[in-house]
Amino acid sequence: MRKSRIAGLGSYVPERIVTNDDLKQWVDTSDEWIQERTGIKQRHWVPDGGGIGSSDLGCEASKRALADAGLEPKDIQMIIFATLSPDHMFPGTGVFLQRKLGVPAGTAALDVRQQCTGFIYGLSVADQFIRTGMYDRILLVGAEVHSSGLDRSTRGRDVTVIFGDGAGAAVITPADEESQIISTHLHADGNFAEDLWLEYPSSKEHPQCGVEQISGDHTRHFPKMKGRQVFKHAVPKMAEAVFEALAKNGVSLADLKMLIPHQANLRINEYVAKQVLGLPDEKCFNNIDHVGNTTAASIPLALDECRRLGKVQKGDLVCLAAFGAGFTWGSALLRL
Ligand code: UT7
Repeated sequence: MRKSRIAGLGSYVPERIVTNDDLKQWVDTSDEWIQERTGIKQRHWVPDGGGIGSSDLGCEASKRALADAGLEPKDIQMIIFATLSPDHMFPGTGVFLQRKLGVPAGTAALDVRQQCTGFIYGLSVADQFIRTGMYDRILLVGAEVHSSGLDRSTRGRDVTVIFGDGAGAAVITPADEESQIISTHLHADGNFAEDLWLEYPSSKEHPQCGVEQISGDHTRHFPKMKGRQVFKHAVPKMAEAVFEALAKNGVSLADLKMLIPHQANLRINEYVAKQVLGLPDEKCFNNIDHVGNTTAASIPLALDECRRLGKVQKGDLVCLAAFGAGFTWGSALLRL
């Protein structure tokens, strides 16, 4: 069976930079606390006031990925859009991207709702479609606008300080001699669904969105996280996913040029890379210090930056790994 590869990469973050000190206008926090616990110094947010959704950021990243692949919107046969911050509850954000980017009407568009693992799930879906021969050119996007949905008060500070807005995109085509997606590994455990979630609006409620649930002290429309619980599971699950990808393909950590983990918290990635895997610093790429946690956008943003810095090149063995809400986790091994 034929394989697939990443033929183009692109990323985009909004111009506005929000430093840790900037957050103090809303939240009782400190630069010291945020840097020590998460490694984050700043993040990018869209301007306040609304009007910009994840499809807008995804569109900019997609233009760059298409240019990198030497393709045009008309060449795309399927869009896969991973986000936890969709433009609207429905339809999926992929169709808004399709319209903005000028991908022809009639092209398939699929949304993926696997949060921090969304890009790896999307990569796996794209890989399957290419392997079976159904499509030759798929646009995979991970994009988030978190800033409009965060609780900008001290009550929500544990969550609010870690998230940034941004987008990353990849064009997936059939493999060539140097580059291929070797394997993908996907997992989920719904027993922890409420440990990191956004409860509201909800089809379980009537009405789905009532003033009483989103005003005053009610906070069901803000994301909630049991941070320590998530941290505790993230470390072993991401490490397991890396080992799974290596074992499946009979390669070792020494063969790996770079691990690109989801950027949720620098401390999680340091535990995984140094303490569990024993990787030297130069084999684990992190950019959370200047972009924060961008959920489904984090891996393509990091991969694109890592490549632009010349730290990985075509043909290098790269492992992607993620863990997040669901819980969901997974990995992908590729020759870039
Ligand atoms: O991408 C999706 C997956 N997400 C993750 O993987 C995130 C995993 N979890 C984490 O990264 C960490 O749990 C956080 C960074 C979110 C929080 O760090 P923590 O060390 O687990 O802190 P905590 O929530 O246990 O809170 C410790 C203390 C509390 O104060 P007391 O009760 O000890 O007095 C909090 O109220 O820190 C306080 N705190 C803050 N202080 C200043 C919580 N958030 C903040 C803040 N600034 N932003």
